[in-house]
Amino acid sequence: MKTIEIAGHTGHSQILVGERLKNLKAYLDWKRTVIITDDNVAGFYQKDFPIADVICVGTGEKAKTLKTVEKIYHRLIEMEADRSVFLLGIGGGIVCDMTGFAASTYLRGVEFGYVPTTLLAQVDASVGGKTGVNFKGYKNMVGVFSQPAFVVCDPGVLKTLPAQELVSGFAEIVKHAAIADASYFACLEENAVSALSLDAAVLQQIIYDSVKIKAAIVNRDETEKGERRKLNFGHTFGHAVEKTHGIAHGAAVSIGMVAASLLSLNRGLLTENEVDRLRRLLARFKLPLRIDMDKEKVLDALVRDKKREGDGIHFVLLAGIGQAVVEKISIDELKTVLKNLAFTRS
Ligand code: GLY
Repeated sequence: MKTIEIAGHTGHSQILVGERLKNLKAYLDWKRTVIITDDNVAGFYQKDFPIADVICVGTGEKAKTLKTVEKIYHRLIEMEADRSVFLLGIGGGIVCDMTGFAASTYLRGVEFGYVPTTLLAQVDASVGGKTGVNFKGYKNMVGVFSQPAFVVCDPGVLKTLPAQELVSGFAEIVKHAAIADASYFACLEENAVSALSLDAAVLQQIIYDSVKIKAAIVNRDETEKGERRKLNFGHTFGHAVEKTHGIAHGAAVSIGMVAASLLSLNRGLLTENEVDRLRRLLARFKLPLRIDMDKEKVLDALVRDKKREGDGIHFVLLAGIGQAVVEKISIDELKTVLKNLAFTRS
């Protein structure tokens, strides 16, 4: 097991990579713990949960609402949970984000921790203190920054993950390498096959390397005033495709990374060879590189994106593998590059 620390203004977090869900009891020295999970995760792992009250929430983005958080408050009040309660989220990113938000607002804030049970949540959602819910169709519109006391990343729980979910996690892993670490990118090129087949040692090292990259960025810019924006590589375009075409998050981010790399190529920041390396690595992780999309719809969703400022949108581009830069792209430039993308309808 290896430990990574986040020392933020909104709390101090210990991320334990390689610790087991079964050993969780050792970390729970609060008077009372309440577990927040979903039916799916409870079905697989309730037998390994520490003894505690359990609140089950619904699954999927549609459940990530203020209404569900309200349900959590109701149950906590029924249980007479006071400020000494510790909320433990065991589940994917949706469970973690809602647990963090409920904990940060219940009685003006109680302590909380996570056991992320998807690869995506282990390398991304559970790390960095972003908590919250969707609101009126906008993703993560309402929330707060607040660091969990601990995050236990147990690669063992990934065995029950559907292949599509696993692949979504690899999109964020490729993102971390692409924006911050060329040697990690090369290591992923070498180990993609073993990682996909859940080779325990390889997977644990990859989770550790990814969390380390994200934690370092969060330690320098916890509340996304600057550098943390780099973690949105592939997400600006990806969110627009996800919203308009209803595809999985990881698939959308993969297509978004290809789009951002082509914008980088257009600006002379990236070479054809580097764009190809990114494409090949994504393909090795069984991620899509293209989608037959309705370009107008995607552009419309993009210009509504909350990152739009003036007549442009802040995009994370690559100035080489392992080096991200944030640049403003005008709508016209975006349209020109989109026109030249092989995977768009003309
Ligand atoms: N998922 C991006 C971030 O945590 O900043």
